[in-house]
Amino acid sequence: MQIPKLGVNIDHVATVRQARRTYEPDPVAAAALATLAGAEVITCHLREDRRHVNDRDVALLKATVTSKFNLEMAAWPDVIAVALRTRPEQATLVPEKREEVTTEGGLNVVAGGRTLAAAVRRLKSRGIIVSLFIAPDPVQIAAAADIGADAVELHTGPYANARTEAGVRRELRALALGAEAARGKGLRVNAGHGLNYVNLRRLLEALDGIEELHIGHSLIARAVLVGVERAVREMVELIVRFSAPGARTEARVQARTEVG
Ligand code: PXP
Repeated sequence: MQIPKLGVNIDHVATVRQARRTYEPDPVAAAALATLAGAEVITCHLREDRRHVNDRDVALLKATVTSKFNLEMAAWPDVIAVALRTRPEQATLVPEKREEVTTEGGLNVVAGGRTLAAAVRRLKSRGIIVSLFIAPDPVQIAAAADIGADAVELHTGPYANARTEAGVRRELRALALGAEAARGKGLRVNAGHGLNYVNLRRLLEALDGIEELHIGHSLIARAVLVGVERAVREMVELIVRFSAPGARTEARVQARTEVG
């Protein structure tokens, strides 16, 4: 039985700080509390415009995170340079648009071509695990393997946003098949975006072999009200509960066999 690790994305803590361009709340302190409460991965997204997380945060997180530090970023040259210098344990490459409020879609690895392949190569040459944030699309999965990625993070946003039962089932099926295809290509499989304390259950029941779940908004939103440690502990408890083999068998068979 594989219990996915909880990866906590602390960007929103930096967003609150930047609302006043002051020093608090400090995302580095939030990362320490999240780790104490059971987070096994700490993620931040260093955007090109540095709208929330900044270079100081990245340097301090690298120095202080005692679990796994996952730096999320687009393949912009100056951000890649920060990663090469800082050497987080893992880099997750995402598409980035200036006007978006959060990452909108998965990477188009096929269109990314040589630029993306070069970024993967350079990061790997510094001993950094490279993950690509993609839709659970067999073409993107094959392209990720072809350019030498170590892992993929499957985009769970469409599942989280599905508003009908048929839509939920269709997205779960795509994710289950995508996870299987990625593992078949020798890729490690992570998942994230839009996950919360409610929709996590069906995802975990339907999918097998997910190594890391990357969660930001819902967790930090709860942390504002109940504290970081309680918010993390509650999420870890759900992950453990819904990863139990008995809870999953029937739902997994259903997810693979139904045509959405
Ligand atoms: N994974 C990736 C690649 C992301 O860009 C984000 C959002 O920053 C997340 C996971 C977390 O998504 P959410 O904030 O919706 O939990």
